Amino acid sequence: MRVIQDVAEMQSLALERRGRGTSIALVPTMGALHEGHLSLVRLAHEHGDEVDVSLFVNPTQFGPDEDLARYPRALERDMELCREEGVTTLFCPGAEQVYAADHSTHISETRLSLGLCGEHRPGHFDGVVTVVAKLFNIMLPSVAVFGQKDFQQVRVIQRMVRDLNMPVRIVMAPIVREADGLAMSSRNRYLSGAEREQALSISKALRDAEDAVAKGASDAEVLRTSVEAGISDAGLKVQYVACVDADSLEPVENLDRAALLAVAAFVGNTRLIDNVVLRLERPGC
Ligand code: PAJ
Repeated sequence: MRVIQDVAEMQSLALERRGRGTSIALVPTMGALHEGHLSLVRLAHEHGDEVDVSLFVNPTQFGPDEDLARYPRALERDMELCREEGVTTLFCPGAEQVYAADHSTHISETRLSLGLCGEHRPGHFDGVVTVVAKLFNIMLPSVAVFGQKDFQQVRVIQRMVRDLNMPVRIVMAPIVREADGLAMSSRNRYLSGAEREQALSISKALRDAEDAVAKGASDAEVLRTSVEAGISDAGLKVQYVACVDADSLEPVENLDRAALLAVAAFVGNTRLIDNVVLRLERPGC
C-alpha cells in the first residue's frame, strides 16, 4: 500500500493509472476508521480494479462550535487497517496541502443540503461537497462509495455529481451497527458507559418505527413523534427527527413512496445521527 501526503504526487499517480486503464473505487473518510468505514472498503473492491482511501479531517465542514480540534485521530492504526483490507493507496494530505492559504473557491448545493443536518450545521455541506470535488479531481476515481449513515450527504453528493457532470458513479453502502444496534461512528468513542446506554434509544426508536411500518403504520407524523418521544424520554436532546421523501428530502405526510426517517440528537456533548429508509410493503408489489 502506498501512503501519499502530497497532492501533486497523488494526482500524477491518478493520471498515470487512468492512462493504464485502471479503474479506481474511492472511499473518502476522515479517519479513526471503524467497521462502518471498512465495510465501504470491502464494497469498493466490487466496483474498481483498485481501492483508494482518503483520510482527511476536513476543516471546512466543521462549524466554529464543533469538534474539529478534538476529532479522533488514529493514523497508525488506520494505515494498518487499510493495509489489511487490500487498499492500494491511502491519501492523507495535511490541511495546508488541500487548501491554499488564500483559497477562494467553493461549491454549494442549494436544495438538498438545506434541511435536516444542513439546517443545523450552516456551511457544513458546502465544506463536504467542496472537499469531495477536490478529492475527485486529485484522485480521479470512477466510483466513490459513501455510507447510508450520512444519507443526506450521499444525496447531496449525487446531486453535485449530476449537476456538474462529474464522471464518477456514487455507490451507497448500508449502515453498519454494533451488536446492540448503535450505528457505528467515530464519535461513539466520546460516549461514557451511561451515555452509550442512552444512545441506544436512537436505534431502538428507529427499529420500533420500522416494526410499526411492517404492521401497516403509514402516517409520517405519528412515526416521527413516536421516535422523538422514545429518544427524548431516554434523556437525549433531540436536534431533529424528520420523515422525508428519500429522493427529494422534502417532508412527507405518509409512506406512499420510500421515506427517510432521520434523527440527530445530542447525548451529553456528542452529536449522533442515524436513519432508516421506510417502505410500505404492499401485497403484490
Ligand atoms: P466520515 O465520517 O469519516 O465517514 C466516511 C464514510 O463512512 C462516509 O461515507 C460515512 O457515511 C461512512 N460511514 C460512517 N459510519 C458508518 C456506518 N456505521 N456504516 C456505514 N458507513 C458509515 O463522511 C465523512 O467522513 C466526510 O464528510 C467525508 C465524506 C470524508 C468528506 O470529508
